[in-house]
Amino acid sequence: MSEARIAVFGAGYAGLVTGACFAELGHTVAVRDIVPAKISVLNAGDMPIFEPGLEELIERNRERLRFTLDAAEALEGAQFVFICVDTPPTYAGDADLSRVWTVIEELPATSDRMILVMKSTVPVGTGETVRANLDARGMDATGYVSNPEFLAEGTAVRDFLEPDRIVVGAFDESDAEAVEQLHAGVDAPIVRTDVASAEMVKLASNAFLGTRISFINEIANVCELVGADVNDVARGMGLDSRIGTRYLKPGIGFGGSCFPKDISFLKLLAGNSGYHFQLLNSVIEVNELQKRRVIGKLQKHLGSLRGSCIALLGLAFKAHTDDLREAPSIVLASRLLAEGADVRAWDPVADASQVLKGVSVVSSIDEAVAGADAAVIVTEWDELRMLASPETLAAMRRPLIIDGRNLLDPDEVRAAGFAYEGIGRPTSPLDMLPETPERDLPATARDE
Ligand code: UGA
Repeated sequence: MSEARIAVFGAGYAGLVTGACFAELGHTVAVRDIVPAKISVLNAGDMPIFEPGLEELIERNRERLRFTLDAAEALEGAQFVFICVDTPPTYAGDADLSRVWTVIEELPATSDRMILVMKSTVPVGTGETVRANLDARGMDATGYVSNPEFLAEGTAVRDFLEPDRIVVGAFDESDAEAVEQLHAGVDAPIVRTDVASAEMVKLASNAFLGTRISFINEIANVCELVGADVNDVARGMGLDSRIGTRYLKPGIGFGGSCFPKDISFLKLLAGNSGYHFQLLNSVIEVNELQKRRVIGKLQKHLGSLRGSCIALLGLAFKAHTDDLREAPSIVLASRLLAEGADVRAWDPVADASQVLKGVSVVSSIDEAVAGADAAVIVTEWDELRMLASPETLAAMRRPLIIDGRNLLDPDEVRAAGFAYEGIGRPTSPLDMLPETPERDLPATARDE
């Protein structure tokens, strides 16, 4: 297809990346959001989110990109309407589609040809319901396509422009063809299917990746008991081309706005359809327990945590994003506070001051570790690779590093004078704190 006019509803991660990338492919794009602050920031040339490469992309394509609060303005002349609004979980754990429906209701009942494209993650069956709604409003000329996004935060621009695949599920072949053509210039296999299958590809992909992570986390936990090293195990497994090396990094559990939510969506979708998805229950439970295992590791070295000072290093749910949604750091911080610890928290980009209540959020690693009884690596930020320095050693009250991401080399850290524990890496009974300076402990901890 030659250049198309596209309206994108929702200026979050998915919407902004989708809009900017379609502009990069030569299309004219209007991105609409209902939050005035977001639109004014974008129109002022700034970014409402932190996503590597996005700012440059938007800058480069300014003449083909508009940001507006006005739905009618965004829809004017649009041949495609992409829905990129969020679908947060309800209290019951299934998808809250209210924002999706608001967009659909805003569409004018036009007889002009237009294609509605669903990027938001929705339960299987949503497309059918939307189709029925459009038909009931006499909008037979409006096509409907499910085109799920597979963008990971931090690499979203590359994931859009160099994807592993593009999934296009449609009721009508010509709609599928038109959406496929929009991606001209992107070199990737296209999976053409029906709407329900496209919706399921998205949920099943995220659930499978989460399953891999929970699997390797359980292998890591067993490795700790039997003296094996999970990093070597994961590499040895992953080089089998039937398994693959990606999404086999053990850690402190997966977070973010997608995996936890989408796994729960799929579990409930199955349940509501009459199938008990046993495996996903375990994936979720293992993930919850994994976030809490750090507490046990701290207690092993420090005893009671009451009165101790713990530095949480990295707060975002993963590196290269400022996103704190479902971040393991939030669970960890609240568990530590409940154990009576003082918590100091640092992240290079995520602003946790409103999210982590009762925690002292500091602006440098040095501030976080000064006088701390333990430093916990929560997010794999590069800034933390040099953590085991003589300066840190001198600054901490007790030299204990719990490496929730296996970011550091255990031998180097131990040689630098720290007690070290990673995830699924061998420890020895001798690998305890070199000394416990009783006199330096606060009264509450000494009394335990
Ligand atoms: C995820 C998917 O990777 C995207 O394909 C998808 O489009 C997106 O969800 C979505 O549904 O919108 P994202 O949540 O940005 O993307 O993050 P990931 O990089 O996949 O990481 C998710 C979590 O798993 C993070 O907490 C990360 O630290 C953890 N993880 C990842 C591991 O613990 N181990 C690994 O090996 C990989």
